[in-house]
Amino acid sequence: MKALVLCAGKGTRLRPFTYTIAKQLIPVANKPVLFYTLENIKKLDIEEVGVVVNPQNKGVFEETLKDGSEFGLRIEYVVQEEPKGLAHAVWMARDFLGEEDFLMYLGDNLILEDLKPFVKEFLEKEDIQASILLSPVKDPTRFGIAVMKNGKVIEVVEKPKVPPSNLAIVGVYLFRSIIFEGIKNIKPSWRGELEITDAIGYLIKKGYDVKGHIIFGWWKDTGKPEDLIEANRKILQDLRVNRVEGEVDDSSKIQGEVIIEKGAKVASSVVRGPVIVGRGSFIKNSYIGPYTSIGEDVIVENCEIENSIIMDKCSLSDVKYRLDSSILGKNVSIRGVKSKPSSMSLILGDLSSANLPE
Ligand code: TTP
Repeated sequence: MKALVLCAGKGTRLRPFTYTIAKQLIPVANKPVLFYTLENIKKLDIEEVGVVVNPQNKGVFEETLKDGSEFGLRIEYVVQEEPKGLAHAVWMARDFLGEEDFLMYLGDNLILEDLKPFVKEFLEKEDIQASILLSPVKDPTRFGIAVMKNGKVIEVVEKPKVPPSNLAIVGVYLFRSIIFEGIKNIKPSWRGELEITDAIGYLIKKGYDVKGHIIFGWWKDTGKPEDLIEANRKILQDLRVNRVEGEVDDSSKIQGEVIIEKGAKVASSVVRGPVIVGRGSFIKNSYIGPYTSIGEDVIVENCEIENSIIMDKCSLSDVKYRLDSSILGKNVSIRGVKSKPSSMSLILGDLSSANLPE
């Protein structure tokens, strides 16, 4: 079995970050989202992985993942010129996939569940032509939804106004090569994309067995900023590691589960876990509160931060208010200044957002 990981989208909902970084490479607990996916794939004993990229982000994926050997995988890159839909991405990978069964994984999805039972069932029951991972959700109108009868999927609908079930389609699928027949026989949807749900709908209509595999554990599509903050919170909470390899002076307090990487320094500060502080970062006279990830070479001085993702090489000093639920991309600088008139000077890129206390 091969795996196909889809990373060729535009990531518009995660701008401005996605102007400079592919969303699958945004760090959660200081590790790119996609690395969790690749580790999951490795656990399933799959070795050959196709990563679908676009012409703009191909280089950065190649530089980051290389040939996959660091993950114990063999990675090949498949270019999708334009994000014309999930089914289109699969179609572009037809040479890589050949006739083999494959696991399709949306690169921005974080799934903590053990996927072995899902794959095992598919491999054992040859009649099943496709199997989709499902999860009950409270707000089915926001998701692709599946309707099940006797363990089989009998209908799939994209973001229904009146949901026929509460089973959302999580971004992991298993297919046999018959899916290409489905893709060949569908037309672009109203949003101009070749939808994988339509290709699955085709298989159902033709009487092929499509299985639904329900999971109850935590998962997240990290497509929006608030999803990233929630994912960061969940991953940090589950880390359950206390590892202080950096320097912490006597006047600092480390509380709860905290990772301070080698080469990081904490002085006259309180770090209340779960928190991770990356290599080379320096925290001085500050409070770093729960659910915060500080990347590498970050400087924080006279600041308070909670529930946030601070990426590499940021510099924060003398900020009067506590930073909460924030995401700062690389090299962001925020400093409090005492000069008069007392005012704010903001230099924000396109589509940045700032919520300031009144
Ligand atoms: P989406 O989040 O649906 O799309 P997107 O990445 O373009 O983001 P946005 O909606 O904010 O603009 O995509 C889900 C995953 O599938 C994501 O990892 C990107 C990938 N994808 C492709 O590889 N090819 C495609 O044609 C599309 C639409 C998505």
